Amino acid sequence: MSKRFYITTAIDYVNGQPHIGHAYEKIIADVIARSRRSLGQEVFFLTGLDEHGQKVQQAALAEKKNPQEYCDAIAADWLTFAKRLELTNDDFVRTTQPRHKEYVQSTLAKLQATGHFYKASYIGFYSAREETFLTEKDRRPDGTFDPSYGEVVELKEENYYFKLGEHQQWLIDYIEANPSFVQPDYRRNEVLGFLKNNKLEDLCISRPVARLNWGIPLPFDPEFVTYVWFDALVNYASVAHAHNELGLWPADVHVIGKDILKFHAVYWPIMLKAMGLPLPKQVLVHGWWQKDGARISKSTGNVVDPIAVINEWGLDAFRFYVLRELDIGPDGNWTDAGFRSRYQSELANGLGNLVNRSLSMLKRYRNGVVPAQSNELAADAAKASDETRALLKQNQLQSALQSIWGLVNRANQYVDQTAPFKLAKDPAQAQRLDEVLYNLAEACRVLAVLLWPFLPGTSTKIYAQLGLPGAPEKFDASSWGGLTAGHTIGEPAPLFPRKDV
Ligand code: ME8
Ligand code: MG
Repeated sequence: MSKRFYITTAIDYVNGQPHIGHAYEKIIADVIARSRRSLGQEVFFLTGLDEHGQKVQQAALAEKKNPQEYCDAIAADWLTFAKRLELTNDDFVRTTQPRHKEYVQSTLAKLQATGHFYKASYIGFYSAREETFLTEKDRRPDGTFDPSYGEVVELKEENYYFKLGEHQQWLIDYIEANPSFVQPDYRRNEVLGFLKNNKLEDLCISRPVARLNWGIPLPFDPEFVTYVWFDALVNYASVAHAHNELGLWPADVHVIGKDILKFHAVYWPIMLKAMGLPLPKQVLVHGWWQKDGARISKSTGNVVDPIAVINEWGLDAFRFYVLRELDIGPDGNWTDAGFRSRYQSELANGLGNLVNRSLSMLKRYRNGVVPAQSNELAADAAKASDETRALLKQNQLQSALQSIWGLVNRANQYVDQTAPFKLAKDPAQAQRLDEVLYNLAEACRVLAVLLWPFLPGTSTKIYAQLGLPGAPEKFDASSWGGLTAGHTIGEPAPLFPRKDV
């Protein structure tokens, strides 16, 4: 039996509410997870929350809560969010869970015992907001630090360091030898450029309890807690360990945003190597959403509230837009006009109209009974199915949707060309009408199968309207000829109601 396909998202900081960027990343991972299951693989899909660190400690303090209470309250919101997106995650990790904390501590103990850490004293400038020490290189030309670092203070501190420096060369060699390790290619080149042009500094992996106590204590020195990234990255392995019987590790895909690439493509592989674990197969890096050409920001109010969009337009419309509009890699720009335009043209007038008119005509002209098989659209359906299968295996979600819409458009064009409403008026054309109605109904069924990973609700509705049980969860069902003569379909109903805007 092949290994389970293990896919993860970044774990989100609990110092805020979910926004479109979080939704986007989770939907990418969900579509990949559903695709792999549809293609016959066993899958384990993990998402969750990053709950330790200074930001959370401060956010809790601001609300006069203890950090755990604060995290528990926010975690409930994030779990609701995951449900609202209909994510098919198999687990939900919180870094405050004992299973995770114990694993982080045993990892730290092991790395300490095997000589990967040392203790040293350091004087430097520290940004609490970014939880990081800054160097002279981080100063702007006028000598100040960027305001995004918040207040920067000079600190002298003893800390534990992880010997990153000695790992530089093998990592360069590894990334060069394994082009799929970081995708897309330009992100891989970015990592290689960074590794080749900078000397890797050793990584500070502790924070003194006196300054930060909301973290996992170092098992070998209670005066310190673990640096939040050394805690957070380990979630991927701690959860694999918690499900040891499934043999999850190494992960197949870590889906992350571009801002945390260095942590995943430099620190994490080095940590794994030190831990004696194999490296993940792929770090898949998506871009960032803007809105109306400007950075998303709570303070300026330039935000897209995914839940509000879903409440108004439906989950599948939201899932469709973010994946169809933006390929995995570049940055994207949300505009309400762009969203409405895709909804109207591709969902309502494209897919929705095709399914509605195809099934309504079958109902009206043949009392909903499927005629004998006809294969006029079979080659078009096979083309869409073959392309989609190949693209899904490469996580090319946007291209897969384009290919699927190739079939939507072809089938709509077929309606216009064959004009079944005219055929219906001429009894001599009865057989021709049968053929056309079969091709249309069967094309709708194939589309439901191809769309399942992307638009699970819509796909299930199409199956129900076709009078077929369950959801088309298996890709193999996309072979032409699934509808059999004499089968009676269900009730047609609009999939994407038109909105007057
Ligand atoms: O970075 N568009 O958490 P986070 C697209 N806890 N993606 C976006 C985005 C946007 N506008 N804004 C954020 C963290 N993201 C750490 C991760 S993983 C071991 C620890 C993405 O809540 C961002 O790129 O700040 C990241 O992948 C994810 O949301 C969580 O960001
Ligand atoms: Mg962030």
